Amino acid sequence: MRTPIVELKAVGKHFRGADGSARAVLEGVDFTLHEGEIVALLGQSGSGKSTMLRIMAGLIPADAGQVLYRGMPLYGTARGIRMVFQSFALFPWLTVQKNVELGLEAQGMPAEQRARRAEKMIDLIGLSGFEGALPRELSGGMRQRVGIARALVMEPEVLLMDEAFSALDVLTGERLREEILELWQSGQIPTKAILVVSHNIEEAVMMADRVLIFASDPGRVRAELPIALPQPRKAESSEVRLLIDQVYELMTAGAGRRGLISEKEVKLQLGDRLPQAGIAHMEGILELLAEEPFSGRADLPQLAEETEMTDAELLEVLNGLILLGFAYLTKGDMLLTELGSRYAAASNMERQELFGRQLLEHVPLIAYICHGLEQDKSGDLPEDLFLKLLRFTLSAEEAEKALRVAIEWGRYGDLFEYNFNTGVIQMSREDEQDEEDAL
Ligand SMILES: Nc1ncnc2c1ncn2[C@@H]1O[C@H](COP(=O)(O)OP(=O)(O)OP(=O)(O)O)[C@@H](O)[C@H]1O
Ligand SMILES: [Mg+2]
Repeated sequence: MRTPIVELKAVGKHFRGADGSARAVLEGVDFTLHEGEIVALLGQSGSGKSTMLRIMAGLIPADAGQVLYRGMPLYGTARGIRMVFQSFALFPWLTVQKNVELGLEAQGMPAEQRARRAEKMIDLIGLSGFEGALPRELSGGMRQRVGIARALVMEPEVLLMDEAFSALDVLTGERLREEILELWQSGQIPTKAILVVSHNIEEAVMMADRVLIFASDPGRVRAELPIALPQPRKAESSEVRLLIDQVYELMTAGAGRRGLISEKEVKLQLGDRLPQAGIAHMEGILELLAEEPFSGRADLPQLAEETEMTDAELLEVLNGLILLGFAYLTKGDMLLTELGSRYAAASNMERQELFGRQLLEHVPLIAYICHGLEQDKSGDLPEDLFLKLLRFTLSAEEAEKALRVAIEWGRYGDLFEYNFNTGVIQMSREDEQDEEDAL
């Protein structure tokens, strides 16, 4: 029998938007973390992964359902549960040693004892010699080691890692991940269970005993894949590659209306979030897909490797291409549509025109902006107008992101112009010229 350590039962969480309306970020989240396991949590940006971790760490309360720690309701932070954040969150004016000691000090541990414990942990995590250094004197990888040491020095039973490796360069991240795994497997740390949030599918498959896939809007556990491979695993092995493939498939299959990625055509509403897909990336992927060896069809892991983008970035770009009708997904493979092939072969002028046309058809926010510009006599409208509109359905950050993308896309599709100094969206000047010519 596996012993549960932390249990989430039908957990829900709402946040209030600027207009006062509540938005469900998590709904009906059921999840149990057992002794002896590492679980990886994957999901789109904004799906509520960090929120779930913060609830498990007792940093914020759930507002529906139950959180149990060792069978008892969790109130506030628990000594046995520690979280490592993506941003290093170190105190800049404290030395490495003092940063690591902080939690022990808060517990009231005598100075000498905590110094010994901290030194031992600093040594274990590979930072000996840097006890007296200040955070700014360290590289990113070393700073994250301090963040991890600070959590581990508390000897937590449960370690929650929120994208703890993603701010690091690839090699540093991999090395640190391997070292944590070694500490865990050799029993040098008393940690009994680890939950890692990751944007990196390979990282999840390399580390975890099972991978959970989170759905968006509202966030909940949508799928689960056990990874029954012994450690240490080889990233290049066919077993690992196959599992990575399966995770991609799970992540892209039927993610729901607002999850965007889907095998079917996507229909957006005016207030939906937009994929964070830059033009250069979208065109790059389209061209890549059109060429050998893909010739119109690509396996997603292979595509990820070829582009050197993170999985999260790649999925956003694919979302963009699917939304605009340039590509579609089947069984974890990305295929060009006929329009997509035409686009890849087109001249710059033709591309702009095609792009603009697809925007008007598939992105209600952009169609709405264009409609507004046509209605308005002056032909220019402040962006705030559209931000306010988006704030009815999106958080401030997401509204801002959606508008940025809409503006980048619309400018490229020659639908309107944008004044970066004044934040005003203007009718495309060529259109004005046409109108003057017509007079
Ligand atoms: N304190 C808060 N107040 C209002 N909204 C919030 C708050 N914290 C998070 N949100 C919103 O909840 C949603 C989920 O956020 P969360 O950070 O949990 O997502 P995530 O899955 O961790 O995303 P990412 O992969 O980008 O880290 C987002 O839409 C976010 O804007
Ligand atoms: Mg997060």
